Amino acid sequence: MAPAPDSRPILVTGGAGFVGANLADRFAAEGRTVIVYDALARPGVERNLAWLTERHGERIVPVIADIRDRDELTRTVREAGAVFHFAAQVAVTTSLTAPREDMEVNLGGTLNLLEALRARGEAVPLLFASTNKVYGGLPDVALTLAGDAYLPEDARLRERGIGEDRPLDFHTPYGCSKGAADAYVLDYARTYGLPTVVMRMSCIYGPRQMGNEDQGWVAHFLIRALRGEPITLYGDGRQVRDILHVDDCVAAYRAALARIDRVAGRAFNLGGGPSNAVSLRGLIAHAGQLLGREIVIETGPWRPGDQRYYVSDPSRVIEALGLERPLSWREGVAQLAGWLREWVEVAPSTEPLPRRQPEAVL
Ligand SMILES: NC(=O)c1ccc[n+]([C@@H]2O[C@H](COP(=O)([O-])OP(=O)(O)OC[C@H]3O[C@@H](n4cnc5c(N)ncnc54)[C@H](O)[C@@H]3O)[C@@H](O)[C@H]2O)c1
Repeated sequence: MAPAPDSRPILVTGGAGFVGANLADRFAAEGRTVIVYDALARPGVERNLAWLTERHGERIVPVIADIRDRDELTRTVREAGAVFHFAAQVAVTTSLTAPREDMEVNLGGTLNLLEALRARGEAVPLLFASTNKVYGGLPDVALTLAGDAYLPEDARLRERGIGEDRPLDFHTPYGCSKGAADAYVLDYARTYGLPTVVMRMSCIYGPRQMGNEDQGWVAHFLIRALRGEPITLYGDGRQVRDILHVDDCVAAYRAALARIDRVAGRAFNLGGGPSNAVSLRGLIAHAGQLLGREIVIETGPWRPGDQRYYVSDPSRVIEALGLERPLSWREGVAQLAGWLREWVEVAPSTEPLPRRQPEAVL
């Protein structure tokens, strides 16, 4: 007989944020109760929470609290059937000016969550959003310029992207705090048998992203372009990233939960892969075409930790989780531009994260 479906709530830390709100929406649409645990630390995310509660009513249970609040977190975790952990200090820039706070939120908050789960003594799945920054700047990858984009000289790497076997090389305080949290999450699977999974994510984009200069560059570029404002490129703009639409990202997390028995204890690189790789200049050119206007580019110096090239090899995550082919970046960006057109009208200005500083990292 098949096991009864789990009716306990899903806990989404950072559930008012971009990825968290999209995931919460999917579960609530299926009738699941979703606890949204969020300190509303990122300006603008309260609009995502309002959107969720408007759509789903009592199926969304907001807990407005900090991930560093151990007591509140431990209480909340007791009810959960599965946990998705997105709450984080998300900007490399902020981590450079406030490394201790970055560590306390990203590493300390994750440890709080792991300990709250361990205290339960049950196998409650935990899915954690890590980052490609755990692989560092990839200084040994020889690059060549192809038009407006850096590409690896190595044909195999160009074709496949960066795999999970790449050595870890934490860089910047954000890279260190997320990387250390990533290691703890994997080790709690090994040492304590917690069913955990780590997703080392490339750039995710899509609706509900409050993109600004510090984080969320695809949305940020589109917002600036829609407002007719110049875009500042730090470095030469030929940096290449693989971008993934948030619907595909959410599908991967949901698939990981559905297959937790098979994938617990593993880390995956989650991104759009080589077929969804684009340089910053390439994305701006596409945005210009979509919006039918010339976009003014300004430039600034290279920023710490900025990879000239990062494209994930998504073959392992696709195979392990049985994922569909992701939405093509051109289509996804056009869709996001459509969503942002309306959003930009209701949001008068791009709100920066607290303590913004000029050398942001994408
Ligand atoms: N979006 C991307 O491209 C990307 C790429 C790699 C990794 N990630 C990781 O994915 C996760 C989600 O990213 P996102 O783009 O949705 O970011 P986001 O900023 O939209 O969401 C993060 C949420 O966490 C909340 N938060 C911040 N500090 C908190 C605290 N101390 N206590 C409780 N809540 C707090 C914020 O209010 C926000 O709602 C993050 O962990 C991020 O590091 C994102």
